[in-house]
Amino acid sequence: MEWWKEGVFYQIYPRSFKDSNGDGIGDLNGIREKLDYFSWLGIDALWICPFFKSPMVDFGYDISDYTDVDPIFGNLDDFKALLHEAHKRNIRIIIDQVYNHTSDKHPWFIESKSSRNNSKSDWYLWRSPKSNGEPPNNWVSLFSGEKAESAWTWDENRKQYYLHLFAKEQPDLNWQNEGLRRAIYDSMKFWLDIGVDGFRFDAASHFYKAIENNIIKGPQIKKSLFESSRDEYYWDPFTARPQTLLEIENIRRFMDSYPEKVSIGEVSSDMGLCLYLMFTIPGRFNIAFNIDFLEKLSFDAANIRALSETLDKFFGTRAWPSYVTGNHDNRRILSRMAGEMHVDFEDKKKISKLFATLLLTLRGTPFIYYGEELGMEDTYIPRDRVMDPWGKALWPKPGRDPSRTPMQWDSSKFSGFSDFEPWLPVNENKVDVNVEKEMNDPNSVLNFYKKLLQMRKNYESLRTGSMEFLDIDNDLLAYKRDGDITIAIVLNFSNGSKLIDTNKLSGKIVMSNYPDHVLKPKEIRPFESLLIEM
Ligand code: NOJ
Ligand code: CA
Repeated sequence: MEWWKEGVFYQIYPRSFKDSNGDGIGDLNGIREKLDYFSWLGIDALWICPFFKSPMVDFGYDISDYTDVDPIFGNLDDFKALLHEAHKRNIRIIIDQVYNHTSDKHPWFIESKSSRNNSKSDWYLWRSPKSNGEPPNNWVSLFSGEKAESAWTWDENRKQYYLHLFAKEQPDLNWQNEGLRRAIYDSMKFWLDIGVDGFRFDAASHFYKAIENNIIKGPQIKKSLFESSRDEYYWDPFTARPQTLLEIENIRRFMDSYPEKVSIGEVSSDMGLCLYLMFTIPGRFNIAFNIDFLEKLSFDAANIRALSETLDKFFGTRAWPSYVTGNHDNRRILSRMAGEMHVDFEDKKKISKLFATLLLTLRGTPFIYYGEELGMEDTYIPRDRVMDPWGKALWPKPGRDPSRTPMQWDSSKFSGFSDFEPWLPVNENKVDVNVEKEMNDPNSVLNFYKKLLQMRKNYESLRTGSMEFLDIDNDLLAYKRDGDITIAIVLNFSNGSKLIDTNKLSGKIVMSNYPDHVLKPKEIRPFESLLIEM
C-alpha cells in the first residue's frame, strides 16, 4: 500500500509554528527544532505552507521566486537541513506549489508588464478592454470581500487588463504558454531533485480558464471566499476543464519519474463529488483535499454520515479519499463545532477528541491542521492586528487570521513560540491549551491524538480497511472498519447519554475519549467516542 494512503499528514503554517531567531515570525529552523515532537506524536508527513520568496501580501501564496526561500523563513540550506533531519526520523515533507498565480513582484510579471512584446509578454492573462473600456468579463476577485471588485486590474503601461482571481498582487499565470509551462516544470524538478516527498498544488482546479466565453450568472455579492468560486465563474467546463485535467496528468507523469512522490491537489470545493473524483482518478492527483467535508461538517451524526458515506461509496476503489477538518483558510474545528454551544473546558476537550476520532478513523488520508491536536481555538484579532488581505476586506467579519495564531508550546507570554511579540496575537487559552502541559496530562487532547495515531499504527483496518456504516441511533454515528480485525467506531454527537443495542454492536472497548471506560458498550455518554474491537 502506498505510504500516503496509510500515513497521517500534519499541516504547518510556517509563520506560526516556531520562531527560532526571535523576530516574532516562525521559520524553517523553528520547525527543525520541533521534529522530535512529530516523532513523539506519530506523524508520517508534514505539509508546509509556502516559505518561498514573497512580498507576503497573501503570506507566501504570492511567490516572487519559486526556487528560493524567503529570508524571513531562512535559506535553502536551512530547508535542506530540515528535510535531512526529517528523513532521518522517517518523516516526509510536502511543499506547497502555487502555480495558478505569482506575486506581482515576480521578475516574470515585471518583465511581462513592461511591454506587449517581451519574452514573457504572454505568461500572464492580459486582455485589451472591451470597446467601452470595461474589463473583458465580469469576474470578481476572491479577496475583494463584499465590495466584489473586478478580477481585472488595468495596467497603464500595456494599456491592458491582467487577470487575478485572488488579490491584485497575485496575477494569474497563462498555462497556455509553453515557455511558462516549462518554467513551472523546472521549478518542480528543482525541489524533487533536492528530495522533497511531494507537492500540494494550490488552486489546481483553476489553472486553465475560459475567459472569452464565460460570464458570471447571477448576483455578484459574495459571502465567503469559496461561495464565489463556483465553476461557471471561471471557466467553460467543456473547453477549459479538460485542459486542466490533461495538465494534471502531465504533472503526475512527471512526478512518477521519481519514486514515491505524492501529489495533492487543492481543487475547488463546490464542484461536487463528480469533479472531485475527476481530479483524483488514476493518472491524476494521488489525493485531493476533501474541503467539501470540512465546509459542510456540522454537529450532526446524520449529516456527517451522509457526507462520508456518499463519498466513500462513490470513490470506492476508483480513487483514494481524504479527510480534512481544518486548515489555514477556515475557522478551527473546535470553534466551529462548539463555539456557540456554551460548553465548559472538559466538554470542549471531549468535543476535540470526538472530531479527532472521526478524522483519524474514516477511510482515507487524514490531514491534521497544526494546533488541533491541542484543542486550539480561534483567536480574537483586534482590527489593528488584522493581517490577512481577505480579512481586511471582510472586516468586521473575521478573515483567516483567527486560525493562524502562534502554536501554543507552553503557557509563557508568547506561548513558547517566540521570545518576541509574535506577528499575530497568542490565544489567551495558552495557559491550559499547550504542548508542555498536555504532554504531562494523560487525559489531554494531545495524548488522545497520540494514542489514536498509535491505534492507527496497530490496526491495519483503521488505515486501509473497508468502511461500513451501521444503523444504531439517530444521534450516534457508527461505522466499522474491516481488515485484519474489525473495529467499530461509535460517536455520540448529542449531549445526552444513549443506550447501545448490544445485539447490533458488541465487543471490547479499546479506546474512549472519557478517562474511564466501561467494559461493555451498553451506554455511550455525552460527546463520547468509542473504538470497539469486535
Ligand atoms: C488557497 C490557499 O489555501 C489560500 O490560503 C490562498 O490565499 C489561495 N489559495 C491563493 O493562493
Ligand atoms: Ca523567525
